[in-house]
Amino acid sequence: MSPSHTRRHFAKLAAQAALGISALLIENPAQARPTKSKRLPSSKASPGFPKGFLWGTATSAYQIEGAVKEDGRGQSIWDTYAHTPGKIKDNSNADRANDHYHRYKEDVQLMKALGVKSYRFSIAWPRVFPQGTGTPNPKGLDFYDRLLDELLANSIEPFATLYHWDLPQELQDRHGGWESRDTPKAFADYAGYVAQRLTDRVKHIFTINECSAFVELGYGNNSIELAPGLKLSQRRLNQVRHHAVLGHGLAVQAIRASGRAGTKVGPAENITTCVPAIETPENIRAAEIATRELNGGYLTVMLEGKYTDAFLAYAGADAPKYTAEDLKVISAPVDFVGINVYSPQHYVVSADDTHGFALVPFPPSYPLMNSNWLKVGPEALYWAPRNLAKIWNVKEIYITENGASIADVPDAKGIVYDLDRIMYLRNYLTHLLRATSEGVPVRGYFLWSLMDNFEWSDGLANRFGLHWVDYDTQRRTPKLSASFYREVIARNSVV
Ligand code: NOJ
Repeated sequence: MSPSHTRRHFAKLAAQAALGISALLIENPAQARPTKSKRLPSSKASPGFPKGFLWGTATSAYQIEGAVKEDGRGQSIWDTYAHTPGKIKDNSNADRANDHYHRYKEDVQLMKALGVKSYRFSIAWPRVFPQGTGTPNPKGLDFYDRLLDELLANSIEPFATLYHWDLPQELQDRHGGWESRDTPKAFADYAGYVAQRLTDRVKHIFTINECSAFVELGYGNNSIELAPGLKLSQRRLNQVRHHAVLGHGLAVQAIRASGRAGTKVGPAENITTCVPAIETPENIRAAEIATRELNGGYLTVMLEGKYTDAFLAYAGADAPKYTAEDLKVISAPVDFVGINVYSPQHYVVSADDTHGFALVPFPPSYPLMNSNWLKVGPEALYWAPRNLAKIWNVKEIYITENGASIADVPDAKGIVYDLDRIMYLRNYLTHLLRATSEGVPVRGYFLWSLMDNFEWSDGLANRFGLHWVDYDTQRRTPKLSASFYREVIARNSVV
């Protein structure tokens, strides 16, 4: 560095210091508007996502709606669980949550300002069938009717999930929830009813959100817990697993029977993502084998109609009881597969044993976002859809969730500069772009989440939103990441 350059550099720093550092910060994330400047890299210089790529955001009913006692809604296992002392980290519950039930119009405007083309939300089963089965609540779908009309009036395409974990409490009390075959049957009746009523406007339906999460964490022996918070034996747990995927298959059939022609249906599963630790042909193959085996109780049986030999051998005498007909139902053909991808669950290398793969242990200092399970590994967003397409020849894939929890802190003006969320998203989207550029058929991406919301057992304190929510005033404020995402959408590329 020349002396004159050094002098200029110090002079500049001194001037900045005199201004006070706060003067150097942008005033508001809204200043970071999508720009049409010609100086930006053109789509030629920076390859983009496929034309018509469906950018969206995602939420779920219990996490945002509130209004838990309104218009005849029945109680769900999450109302019970969240009101059980000691279950929710910050002692919150979702009785009010984001009050979206009353503020949905404002929330649709948040989506519009982002420029999203689609929105994934869920329908609360206990609003529609307060007891889980029987006579539908006459007001049960009114809210979703209003929401759909509002979305369509704003040119946002609705994608509805039928089950995002809010099981009617009555079904839990009556026969142990998903422990009984009656629950998948009741779910199919509910799915058929919704399909009949809403498929004039909803063209894409997800059956169940993350079977594996609500089963393993709700019924299994895990440190992270979800409602109903049971710790069942392996035998009973295997039966719950089976009933969950059976529920998916029965719902697919019910939607086909009752929905309008052209309705598309599929799961939204949190695929166990296996990433080759180092990209060699052997490790890539090992990651494919691992993906098939480690999704054995969920995606694999849904897409193949059989439990793998390794799955059955591992379960042994505790294997689920099922019929050949069950397997046909579970693997009823789907139109697309949705996957929720947050982390690489496993880094994999090849092994010369009967499994053909080995899992690499994570070092203690491996980076996490603000959830103890949310390991950072952007390449997951390449390998998850790539393996899904490769192993099962899936032709239409949606990333139904991806996002980051952050200990967001607003500044004195209430603005959140969430550079860490932007860092996470930019890196993950770079790998998604690799996937679409190589022809992996990912059609859309739903960022979790439109706004901060009730993060299950973590309560309201752990935030995933593009918008900060003040739960006292219900004010929503765009974070810096909202500007980032708006720019991504506007340019259909990673920015
Ligand atoms: C998956 C779940 O579907 C969603 O409800 C949850 O909030 C996010 N992951 C983040 O944990």
